Amino acid sequence: MSMHTPKIDKKVTLSTIAKMKGREPITVVTAYDALFAKLFDGEVEMILVGDSLNMSFFGKEDTLSATMDQMIYHTQAVCNGAKLPLIILDMPFGSYTSPEVAVKNASRAYQETSAQAVKIEGGKERASIVEALTQNSIAVLGHIGLMPQFLRSDGGYKIRGKDQADIDVLVEDAIALEKAGVFAIVVEGVKEEAAKAITEAVSVPTIGIGAGNSTDGQVLVWSDMFGFFEDFKPKFVKQYCNGAKEVREGLEQYRDEVKAREFPSAEYSY
Ligand code: KIV
Repeated sequence: MSMHTPKIDKKVTLSTIAKMKGREPITVVTAYDALFAKLFDGEVEMILVGDSLNMSFFGKEDTLSATMDQMIYHTQAVCNGAKLPLIILDMPFGSYTSPEVAVKNASRAYQETSAQAVKIEGGKERASIVEALTQNSIAVLGHIGLMPQFLRSDGGYKIRGKDQADIDVLVEDAIALEKAGVFAIVVEGVKEEAAKAITEAVSVPTIGIGAGNSTDGQVLVWSDMFGFFEDFKPKFVKQYCNGAKEVREGLEQYRDEVKAREFPSAEYSY
């Protein structure tokens, strides 16, 4: 008998996700390419093509310079690799500065990829943008709490929900996003108590990252959770394997064998 929870064997839709609230925790990981997306196919309900790719894939210090073209290219790759998860394209900084700009860019995302939703960062100040998108039949995943695209205006990555006043702000943000039509909300970098209050205040699922264990689901960045991203490790990241160590050991062995003329042996030669 398998010790693991069952794999997902049919296409995940927005209604699958809606029905999971309060019933079964939702699993989400990021992916940026077809190779890893294929590995994740059937293992998680949703794949987020996060603008975190600007850091872990492209090597920049923050997410701000990711472009719509990059997000589309990587989402196309992920859609080529994974067939079952619900795939979300993360709208990059500057791509949803007004309802019109957001609809134009998100329409491109829908036309040029088979993503089933887009994600935008922001609370009640972004509700009119969410509404414009959902009224144009574009599904939106909200994102509140610590918002990496607000890094410069917020003066750094700040944990939210440390006092009742901030918890109230976050709950108001979540309610405004729900009213505007989001199908779920990422809650990032908030105290557990705040995440619990947000989750209880809305009827759409909340997906936590660095938000404790009361949200309706969890998301992690694949390169963090598999130990490939070594620049820094936030407290909330659990490393499920040590990818960088494995790759380094493999590479060392390859180098040794090539230098010693052990590779390719007869087995690997025509
Ligand atoms: O860009 C990203 O990967 C994200 C997740 C951290 C939620 O927004």
